[in-house]
Formats: sequence, structure tokens, C-alpha cells
Amino acid sequence: MDLVTTIAGARARRKADRAAGRSVVLVPTMGFLHEGHLSLVRRAHELAASVWVSIFVNPAQFGPGEDLDRYPRDLERDLRLLEEERADVVFAPSAEEMYPSPQKVTIGYSGLEDVLCGASRPGHFAGVGLVVSKLFNIVEPDAAVFGQKDAQQAFLIRRLVEDLSFPVRIDVAPIVREADGLAMSSRNTYLSDDERRAAPVLYRALLAARDAIRQGERDPRAVEEILRQVITREPLANLEYAACVGQEDLQPPTRIDRPVLLALAVRLGTTRLIDNMTINPEEI
Ligand code: PAJ
Repeated sequence: MDLVTTIAGARARRKADRAAGRSVVLVPTMGFLHEGHLSLVRRAHELAASVWVSIFVNPAQFGPGEDLDRYPRDLERDLRLLEEERADVVFAPSAEEMYPSPQKVTIGYSGLEDVLCGASRPGHFAGVGLVVSKLFNIVEPDAAVFGQKDAQQAFLIRRLVEDLSFPVRIDVAPIVREADGLAMSSRNTYLSDDERRAAPVLYRALLAARDAIRQGERDPRAVEEILRQVITREPLANLEYAACVGQEDLQPPTRIDRPVLLALAVRLGTTRLIDNMTINPEEI
């Protein structure tokens, strides 16, 4: 496994893959890897010959007062895990390498970024779009793997790739959970013992909402109310949003008569957790 930390080094390594006729798949991450990330790496092996993983805590996607400074990092451990997963290349640049001068170009999505997580994290998806665009231009992957865990991110990346004609096939892999249902996240390490015990409430809320849809509920407002009620019953949890939106547009439908995304953001103490579930009313 090769570790590259500069853009020039990445381009040179990419050239070697091209010369050898190896297709390239990129798994973008911010490191502190867990089973969710590793599932993307395993998926990546199915998509291309050379598996690249980027590790970069992207300052551009953190707002003022967010957790950029305390975001967990452990490059050595990440490298060990990626070695075990037979990754071919790790691209781990510094912030100075990625952003040598103040960035003037921004990525906007005409309002698609203003709903769900974007509503409470202004500028977040602009920063994600920027770094993913840069990574695609540096690595020139044939494919890239993202997680359904960050459903709005995956949605906006698909749009970015379509609108900017990036020649990159986007693959979205399912959410990996702990045994008690908590979606894996690097941020789970922030949770106190009590908060960790309370954290599966997000998954329980999603299951309750899914059950209601299975039993015939078709009013998205009623489904959101179920999500809200389950979260509110947990004393440690503070709801940021509970949404039932169309999978195709992330907008509230009048009725659940097409695939929907149930999405939650909840604060436990100072930790913000997100989770989601996709439901096709035709198939349940
Ligand atoms: P990060 O939070 O490190 O996540 C990297 C990738 O892993 C994302 O595509 C995310 O959706 C996926 N992922 C995280 N937890 C997962 C889980 N439990 N199951 C399945 N996939 C999971 O998302 C980012 O980094 C950044 O925004 C990035 C895309 C790297 C741009 O900076």
C-alpha cells in the first residue's frame, strides 16, 4: 500500500495505475475509520482494480463553532486498517496542500443544500462539493464510493457529478450499524456512556416510522410526528430535524406514494448524530 501526501505525488501514482491499465476507485473519508468506512473499501474492490482511500479532515466543510479542532484523528491506526483491507493507495494531504491559498470558487446547489442537514449547517455542502471536486480532479477515479449514512451528501454528489460532467461512476453503499442499531460514525467516540446508551433511539425512531408506513400510513406529516415522538421520549436527546421527504428531490411529498427518505438529526449533549432509512411504499 502506498501513502501519498502531495497532489503531485497522487498524480504520479495515478499515472502508474493508468500505464498499467488499472482502473481506479476512490473512497473519500475524513479518517478515524470504522466498519462503515471499511465496508466502502470492500465495495470498492468490486468496482476497480486499484483502490484509493483519501483521508482528509476538510476544513471547508466545518462551520464556525463546529468540531473541526476536536475531530478524531489517528492516521497510523487508519493505515493499519487499510493495509488489512488491501487498499492500494492512501491519499492523506495536509490542509495547506489542499488549500494553499484562500479558496474563491464555491459550489452551490441552487437550494438543494438548504434542507435537512444543510439547513443547520450553512456552507457545509459547499465545502463537501469543493473537496470532492478537488479529489476527483486530483485522483481522476473511474468510480467513487459514498455511504448512504450521509444521504443528502450522496444525493448532492450525484448531482454534482451529473451537472459538472465528472467522468466518475458514483456508488452508494448501505449504512453499517452497531449491534444495537446505532449507525457507525467517527463522532460516536464523543458520546459519554449515558449518551451512548441513549443513541440507538435514532434507529428505534426510524423503525417505528417504517412500521407505521408498513401498516398503511401515507401521510408524511404523521410519519414525521412518529419520528419526533420517539426521539422526544428520550430525555438526553434533542431533536434537530425529523423528515420524511421524496428520495428523488428531498422535498416533502403530499402523500407517501413514491420512495421516501426518513431522515433524522439529533443532538446528544454536544454530539450531533444523523441517521436515515429509505422506504419504497410499493415494496413493503
Ligand atoms: P466521513 O464522515 O469520514 O465518511 C466517509 C464516507 O463513509 C462517507 O461516504 C460516509 O457516508 C461513509 N460512512 C460513514 N459512516 C458510515 C456507516 N455507518 N455506514 C456506511 N457508510 C458510512 O463523509 C465524509 O467523511 C466527508 O464529507 C467526505 C465525503 C470525505 C468529504 O470530506
